[in-house]
This record gives sequence, structure tokens and C-alpha cells, in this order.
Amino acid sequence: MVFISNSPEETISFGENYAKTIKNGAVVVLNGEMGAGKTVFCKGVAKGLGIEEEILSPTYAYMNDYSGKLYHFDCYRLQSGAQAEGLGLTDYFYAGGICVIEWAENIKEVLPEAYKTVTIEKLEEGKRKIIYD
Ligand SMILES: Nc1ncnc2c1ncn2[C@@H]1O[C@H](COP(=O)(O)OP(=O)(O)OP(=O)(O)O)[C@@H](O)[C@H]1O
Ligand SMILES: [Mg+2]
Repeated sequence: MVFISNSPEETISFGENYAKTIKNGAVVVLNGEMGAGKTVFCKGVAKGLGIEEEILSPTYAYMNDYSGKLYHFDCYRLQSGAQAEGLGLTDYFYAGGICVIEWAENIKEVLPEAYKTVTIEKLEEGKRKIIYD
């Protein structure tokens, strides 16, 4: 399915609605270049899950845990699935909360068998095409 977002606010609302359609324990891979809006989308997911904490990019921590309800991963600086495994990150895929993963291609060998994808493409200024299943 495709959604066209005309602003960061619309991407947040989309994420909020999307969160309500997924099951607990779902793993969601976010595709899209730097600045596409993956973290913005994740803010919406958090809102949809009733999380009030601010969502900050977990670049330095690799993963932020929002009360066990949402695990937000940023795998940009990870080199391999083995590294993610060694850091204990892959355990969270099976912990029951929703996992939202940026730069999952860096750890693709250790992703669970079933996951959903959300791909965000930049269109003109302020616009994004969001492809999701
Ligand atoms: N329609 C839109 N949806 C989402 N973000 C948008 C939109 N239009 C403009 N933006 C801007 O694009 C940027 C998206 O930043 P964001 O941190 O979410 O990207 P990212 O995909 O997580 O990048 P990175 O891979 O570096 O983590 C923000 O500055 C946001 O304001
Ligand atoms: Mg990001």
C-alpha cells in the first residue's frame, strides 16, 4: 500500500495509525535514505502506542527501549548481524514489544523470519512516498 505524506506532521499521523494496525511483537524494518523520515515515522508509532517519552534517534545507543512496548533500533553503525547478536540486540526481536529498525540491511542475516517493511522515499520538498505492507 502507498501513502503520500505532505509534511512531517502527516508522517507522524500515518505512523500513529500504522501502530494501531500491527500486533505486539511485530518487527518493522524501515527503509529509506538518510533524512527520509524514518525517525519521524517512529515518533508517530510511539504516539500510536501511547508512549509519551520523546523519541530520539538511537544512533549512539543502537537501540532505545520505551518501557518494553517499543524498541527503536538504529543499525547505521553496526557492521554485521553477528555484531548485533554479540551486543544482545537480537534478543529484543523476541521480547514481545514492537521493534522498529532503521538501517536493518546492516544486520539482515539476523532479522527474524517474518517482518514488515515500511519504505520512505523523498519526493519534492516536504513530501514523502510511504510504501508499506
Ligand atoms: N513528509 C515528511 N515526512 C517526514 N519527514 C519529513 C517530511 N518532510 C520533511 N521532513 C523532514 O525530513 C527529516 C527526516 O528526518 P529523520 O531523522 O526522520 O530521517 P531518518 O530517515 O531517520 O534519517 P537517518 O537515516 O539519518 O536516521 C526531518 O528533518 C523532517 O522534518
Ligand atoms: Mg533516523
